[in-house]
Amino acid sequence: MTGSPDHSNSAFVRACRGLPTEHTPVWFMRQAGRSLPEYRSIRGTGTILRAIADADLATEITLQPVRRYGVDAAILYSDIMTPVHAIGFGVDIAPGIGPVVEHPFSGRADLDRLRPLDPEADTPYVVQTVRNLVAELPVPLIAFAGAPYTVASYLLEGKPSRTYVRTKALMYSDPVLWFELLDRLADLALDSLRSQVANGASAVQLFDSWAGSLSPADYEHYVLPASTKVLEGVAELGVPRIHFGVQTGELLGLMASAGAEVVGVDWRTPLDAARTRLPATTSVQGNLDPAVVATGWDATEPAVHDVLRRGGGLGHIFNLGHGVLPETDPTVLERVVETVHAQGPVGTDTQGTNA
Ligand code: CP3
Repeated sequence: MTGSPDHSNSAFVRACRGLPTEHTPVWFMRQAGRSLPEYRSIRGTGTILRAIADADLATEITLQPVRRYGVDAAILYSDIMTPVHAIGFGVDIAPGIGPVVEHPFSGRADLDRLRPLDPEADTPYVVQTVRNLVAELPVPLIAFAGAPYTVASYLLEGKPSRTYVRTKALMYSDPVLWFELLDRLADLALDSLRSQVANGASAVQLFDSWAGSLSPADYEHYVLPASTKVLEGVAELGVPRIHFGVQTGELLGLMASAGAEVVGVDWRTPLDAARTRLPATTSVQGNLDPAVVATGWDATEPAVHDVLRRGGGLGHIFNLGHGVLPETDPTVLERVVETVHAQGPVGTDTQGTNA
């Protein structure tokens, strides 16, 4: 959008594109949240969906970790369930549990509860938060959306699941309806991402957190087409695209093929192994174990160096392998950022040999 600062030369955007940078960029999934005392003090007691709907509050919460940690990117304070909530599907987010759905998706008639998203009318607070942020942030803002599979799993299960039996039951028993459901969810993600980028976000991340519950063959057949629709649909916007999931070691190549400059990797797959499963031009994001960080600095310091040794160099965005755990000491994350930045330039002299 005209008037937005240009972050195309930032360390974060350059690393997404595999270009040399003054340091390895670093940010943390769930960097805004319960591990920060300043978050707990302003967050209030209502549901997170109410905090997201308050643009001034959501702006401040997004800025908090940028100020404290000096990270190289901000991620919008919102949730993957915001669009389905905004169109009235009947979603809430229960503290300590996650998304819960009053009337889960149970058949064809429920498609009518998934009308298209009009971001300006349905989520004016998201639009306003993005605008506030791009005017204030010294670093790029990452837009995000939930991938069709992960959002579908919440709509079908009605709550977080370990086995995804209801999700898989629809997938196998009624593939026609399954593909229609995923197509609607792809359109919701696409319209949300387009709006966030039109209002100034500098990159997008598609969160397919629970894709690792699928075999590669099922992922490729039942899920990849809808995620590809989202990622290819934002290609023309010209911002880097990050595709992330948990326990996706066997899916990394397929996730890159959906159309992403960057694939996010959890801590179970070492980044050097991940790179062998990805095209040479794909950047990697990750992958420090968030539970190691939550144990304190002693175990974290060597783990940071191990991530840099295996994944470092051109096309690496340092992150955790999943979100910051609430019990994490923020001073440990401060030291992670300092340590990563202290390694210095990438791709110009000492580092960047694996491009
Ligand atoms: O800092 C950031 O990462 C930005 C904000 C963000 C939130 N949710 C805020 C939030 C992002 C990027 C998300 C994405 C999200 N939401 C995902 C994908 C990422 C991942 O973790 O795999 C998923 C699966 C969800 C669904 C969801 N929302 C869950 C599982 C939970 C946790 C429930 C709990 O209380 O433990 C939420 C709630 C939520 N979303 C919180 C935050 C900061 C914590 C609750 C709160 O502060 O009220």
